[in-house]
Amino acid sequence: MPFPEIQARLAFISGAGSGLGKELAKELAKRSIPLLLTSKDPQKLNLVAKELQGMTTVTTQAADLSIPQDLESLLERVRADGPDLIINNAGMGLYGKVLSFPLEKQMEILKINIEALVQISIESARTLQKRHESGTIMNVSSTAGLFTYPSFALYAASKRFAYEFSLSFDEELSSQGIRVLSCLLGRFTSDFRYNASLHKSAASASSWDTMSLAHTAKLILRQIEKQKGYQIIDWRYQILTYLSKLAPRKWIAKTLQKDIERMG
Ligand SMILES: NC(=O)c1ccc[n+]([C@@H]2O[C@H](COP(=O)([O-])OP(=O)(O)OC[C@H]3O[C@@H](n4cnc5c(N)ncnc54)[C@H](OP(=O)(O)O)[C@@H]3O)[C@@H](O)[C@H]2O)c1
Repeated sequence: MPFPEIQARLAFISGAGSGLGKELAKELAKRSIPLLLTSKDPQKLNLVAKELQGMTTVTTQAADLSIPQDLESLLERVRADGPDLIINNAGMGLYGKVLSFPLEKQMEILKINIEALVQISIESARTLQKRHESGTIMNVSSTAGLFTYPSFALYAASKRFAYEFSLSFDEELSSQGIRVLSCLLGRFTSDFRYNASLHKSAASASSWDTMSLAHTAKLILRQIEKQKGYQIIDWRYQILTYLSKLAPRKWIAKTLQKDIERMG
């Protein structure tokens, strides 16, 4: 795949301490784009910053996106620094039935996957508007958001929110040169499954449809380069999503639930 050409004055990435966020940070650093990185774990963030030293300028700010004070100070940073490429990548999910988790844990999913994503999107768009600048917001969603998904209900619904919100916000802003894109990702290799699973040992197994981190990150950058509003990544998931429309919704829901229960 050709090297996607991305240009930005300052790129903000959430969830940059590991997984996809870290991979995207590395890709943007290769293009010498200055980075503002955030993640929950300050140690992981420092390691990433060290790894990218010499490639570009890296500023970090640790923040737990489920804690309002942390989110507010991160928003202050966004308002002050005004990144023109914003990647809302941080996310979490839990494998299991809604009633099997304490309410607080379920709400954490919504705080990170919805509230933080919305607040960062709005405040960065407002900052770009005030500065009369153009920019791109990329909201990371999931193909899970396209389905009825028992045993992954809040995660799937939060990811549906992420792309529906992005589509509408994009319509409002695109004429001003501010784009709000969203990518619906299929399964890829990261600690996500381990973190989401109650039975950690079973969670790392991968299957034929698991994408590599590098492949996933490159396709996201390609989408940003092409300024495509919405994209299912990758082709395997485009086919699966298309085929799923031909099957009864309840059958798909049962199949997905079995798959999650096998992993969780
Ligand atoms: N992996 C998949 O198969 C898959 C498929 C579709 C979509 N996605 C989406 O892709 C994105 C990246 O996930 P990933 O696979 O790279 O998973 P990951 O390795 O678990 O990374 C998740 C990132 O989110 C951050 N995060 C989690 N809770 C947070 C909190 N309370 N406050 C701040 N940051 C927090 C983590 O920070 P720390 O490391 O500092 O804790 C981590 O950097 C997520 O939005 C996920 O929903 C993943």
